[in-house]
Amino acid sequence: MPSSPVEKGFGQGDPALERWADGVYHPEDAVLREIRERSVREGLPLIAVGRFDGLHLEVLARAAGASKAVEIGTLGGYSGVCLLRGMGPHGVLHTFEYSEKHARVANESFHKAGVAARAHIHVGAALDRLPEIEAEAPFDLVFVDADKVSYPAYLAWAADHLREGGVLLADNAFGFGEIHLPGGDEGRLALRKFNEQLAQGGRFRATMIPTAEGLAMGVKVR
Ligand SMILES: C[S@@+](CC[C@H](N)C(=O)[O-])C[C@H]1O[C@@H](n2cnc3c(N)ncnc32)[C@H](O)[C@@H]1O
Repeated sequence: MPSSPVEKGFGQGDPALERWADGVYHPEDAVLREIRERSVREGLPLIAVGRFDGLHLEVLARAAGASKAVEIGTLGGYSGVCLLRGMGPHGVLHTFEYSEKHARVANESFHKAGVAARAHIHVGAALDRLPEIEAEAPFDLVFVDADKVSYPAYLAWAADHLREGGVLLADNAFGFGEIHLPGGDEGRLALRKFNEQLAQGGRFRATMIPTAEGLAMGVKVR
């Protein structure tokens, strides 16, 4: 499966439009920039959400009134800081990360951003470790951004552990620009199944926010 471009496309593809939006909305402050730069220095893959995707996450968490959220795929903590900012001073995030190295970088990010007390990093395969937090369900928001083959399983978990009215968000829902092509590898097939179940499975009212990567969003209806 191809990977994300380092510089993600924006709006109608005009770089001047992106510069304008950056200047007006300021999607990335010094704290987030430091996380992105330190993640590169630490050798993490360049697969964090884009600047505006991070801002979307903050604003959507705020709009949802989320105070208990789950993130699957922590990396260096960039998107986690965005979600925690959107949840206000009492919001709590459980974030799941396979790699101990990524989790260490994220832990530093959460401390530097002043949100470490509200960020719980669970190291290991998310599907093995998610049961550990089920006693705290229902959650207000679940953000999926990890291994693509597991997206249908993460969706099923979210459907069972979000509150009604809770929000499911998933990055890379366009399958790196290839979701619509016939066939594909295991990851693309899983992403296609994920989109179809989210949109047509009856448990969410869902839409696709057409960011560069495709940010799928559903509100749990039953
Ligand atoms: C796209 S990155 C997450 C980016 C992060 N959400 C951000 O924007 O800052 C995906 C992360 O998921 C982790 N990952 C992959 N498979 C996983 C699994 N089965 N369980 C938990 N984490 C996994 C990877 O190690 C990687 O750090």
